[in-house]
Amino acid sequence: MTTILAIESSCDDTSAAILRDDRVLSNVIASQKVHEQYGGVVPELASRAHQQNIIPVVDGAIRQSGITKEDIDAVAFTRGPGLLGSLMVGVNFAKSFALALGKPIIEVNHLQAHVLSHFIRRPENQDSADAGIPKFPFICLLVSGGHTQILLLKDHFDIECLGTTIDDAAGEAIDKAAKIMDLGYPGGPVIDRLAKDGNPEAFQFATPHIPGYNYSFSGIKTSFLYFLRDRLKENPQFIEQHKADLCASIQRTIVAFLLKKVERAAIDHHVNQLAIAGGVSANSLLRSELQRICARHHWKAFIPPFQFCTDNAAMVGIAAYFKYLRGDFANMDLAPYTR
Ligand code: KG4
Ligand code: ZN
Repeated sequence: MTTILAIESSCDDTSAAILRDDRVLSNVIASQKVHEQYGGVVPELASRAHQQNIIPVVDGAIRQSGITKEDIDAVAFTRGPGLLGSLMVGVNFAKSFALALGKPIIEVNHLQAHVLSHFIRRPENQDSADAGIPKFPFICLLVSGGHTQILLLKDHFDIECLGTTIDDAAGEAIDKAAKIMDLGYPGGPVIDRLAKDGNPEAFQFATPHIPGYNYSFSGIKTSFLYFLRDRLKENPQFIEQHKADLCASIQRTIVAFLLKKVERAAIDHHVNQLAIAGGVSANSLLRSELQRICARHHWKAFIPPFQFCTDNAAMVGIAAYFKYLRGDFANMDLAPYTR
């Protein structure tokens, strides 16, 4: 049995988790409220907040798990990509803690962690042979604030990127649409909530024709901005009066664009299992639409529980567990990477 302490600090959430093999014993997340007033993450404030949070968060994760420090077999951390100052806090804390414990360290790529979160064994199905865990090969749509990729997983660490965004990430586009409507940051969850009362067909926003499995989101954002600018000239109350319809329409546009390419990729690659991961995979329309598409094709859909969608250390822990099994440990002199 392997016990791993995992740390995630790549952006604006400080998180620590304890895993025993592929089961999560604790997963503590401290979100940083300081960025809300700026409408986006301020890197310098993020790294300072990580410094304040890291010890209480790690302490909380160890306490909640019921283990002691001595039970830890390895310390894992997100090495990148992310904000340099934020990553440095987690990387340096993990190294020092591991050094003090005399245990090895494991570096984890943040994007791989999001995808591998599908391998976390959950209490409700831990004894069943079909544990709700995908089998290789499968396709995963990784959608976060910083990335949008269609990935073909042949093994835990044999991952082929079939397509990616050539400009903004999907989460970034959603957050920018929310910002234009003055809905606060991060806007994704707000748009999701308001869209529930709106008509998704109320407004049409064009999606670009990008070849293959690649995406582009900057055009959608611009067409949304210009559309509102024109309507506001005629009616300054336009956003206020049509908020729910605007949210539902932009959400439908983005989700349909995302899933059209994923469906195509699955057909072309003869894959019958589709997964989603990353912060935007918390979106209710993306979740229900994925299920609808999979049901239509008799494919299997893998949708992460909410606590493993947005940034968390449990996903870092599961990725580290598979590296531990391979003896894939890191050197103490490694540095974080931002891209
Ligand atoms: O994975 P994540 O926590 O951080 C990054 O690695 O970027 O993703 C954050 C992104 C933000 O853009 C946020 O607005 C979006 O996930 N998000 C959502 C929802 N919850 C979070 N987008 C749409 N609907 C949601 N319910
Ligand atoms: Zn993330």
